[in-house]
Amino acid sequence: MKEQSVQIPAEDLATRWSSVIRRRSFLTGIGLAGAAFSAGTLAAKDDNDKLPKGDVAILRFLAAAELVESDFWQQYNELGGVNGGNAAYKLALENLDGDMPQYISDNTDDEMSHAAFLNAYLMSKGEQPVNLDAFRTLPSSRATGAKQIGRLTNLMSLDVDTSWYTRYRSTQNPDLGATFPQAVTITHQPTIPLDDSDTPPTQMQPVPPTTRQQRRMQAIANAAGFHFALFDQAGSSVYTNLLLNVTNAEVLRVVVSILGVEVNHFAVWHDKAGNAVAQPLAGVTDPETGVTFPDLNAPPFGGEQFQTNLIFPEPCEFLTPSFPACSIIRPTLKQNAGAVATATAIVNSRLFLGQSPAFFDAVTALAMAADAAKRKHSDGDEPGS
Ligand SMILES: [Fe+2]
Repeated sequence: MKEQSVQIPAEDLATRWSSVIRRRSFLTGIGLAGAAFSAGTLAAKDDNDKLPKGDVAILRFLAAAELVESDFWQQYNELGGVNGGNAAYKLALENLDGDMPQYISDNTDDEMSHAAFLNAYLMSKGEQPVNLDAFRTLPSSRATGAKQIGRLTNLMSLDVDTSWYTRYRSTQNPDLGATFPQAVTITHQPTIPLDDSDTPPTQMQPVPPTTRQQRRMQAIANAAGFHFALFDQAGSSVYTNLLLNVTNAEVLRVVVSILGVEVNHFAVWHDKAGNAVAQPLAGVTDPETGVTFPDLNAPPFGGEQFQTNLIFPEPCEFLTPSFPACSIIRPTLKQNAGAVATATAIVNSRLFLGQSPAFFDAVTALAMAADAAKRKHSDGDEPGS
């Protein structure tokens, strides 16, 4: 990253995040959580004309997640979408699939529609929408195509967790304790071009890339491909987890209906990311970060765990190992796929690098409130009571 001012050093992010979680947990314990951020919503009564407060908390967390998603998709769209302004970035993305700019634009539209719908729905029920505009403070890319406006998210030095790739090829389930290796190690890697001297917007992007700047741009586009899939598989899991505690039938319809589109996005991005690690594109190394995209179809890779066209979820253990394997979204347990778990994974990816403590506080309050939601029967009883 060049000449970018960062308010919170990356190494401090995880520490700061866990201290925010600890403090919030303490406040929850003494009944004060959310007081500063959304007291009205959290104090709402379960009147007949009101949504259950747990449903509201789930919708508000999801609205925040969709605003975050919309923010970074807009950055991808400005540079690499169908009307994107950075020709070389688009060419590099098209090396993954000729339709990438179109998919990027459509995914951007979808996320913006999710955020706008969830907020409109909350307001229609007399609830506060989620507004993160005060936190649009992070700098834009300086590359041709990027608007110079404040951002919620930072795509310039990401740690992209690629264990979703091996997880969905495995017969094991993280909810039963399994862990999964990275498919590609992507650390401190930009997923959008940073500036025109680093990656000239007019350069060609042959396969394989031949110049240093072409390799740099291709690695940036390849990492973006993995980041797209990372976020939508997380969305698939957190929507599934949170819907388990929705009470109101219409809210359940809202959450399930959006969930399906997150899964749809994940499936497509899973396929496209694989093209970065298959012939003829495989083998690119970023000359700045050293991040390498090997051929995952060739030794020492290949096989069930790495073969790039195994994009449909492998049946895996579900509920208990005694059941037959089942092809499912995973994880879906709160500890792995709840709002706090998901927010923590996003923080650890450095997507919020440079954000203010107030931002982390706001996100934590929303995530903890969503995780505290408990499904009730329509007669007010808790399931099983
Ligand atoms: Fe979405």
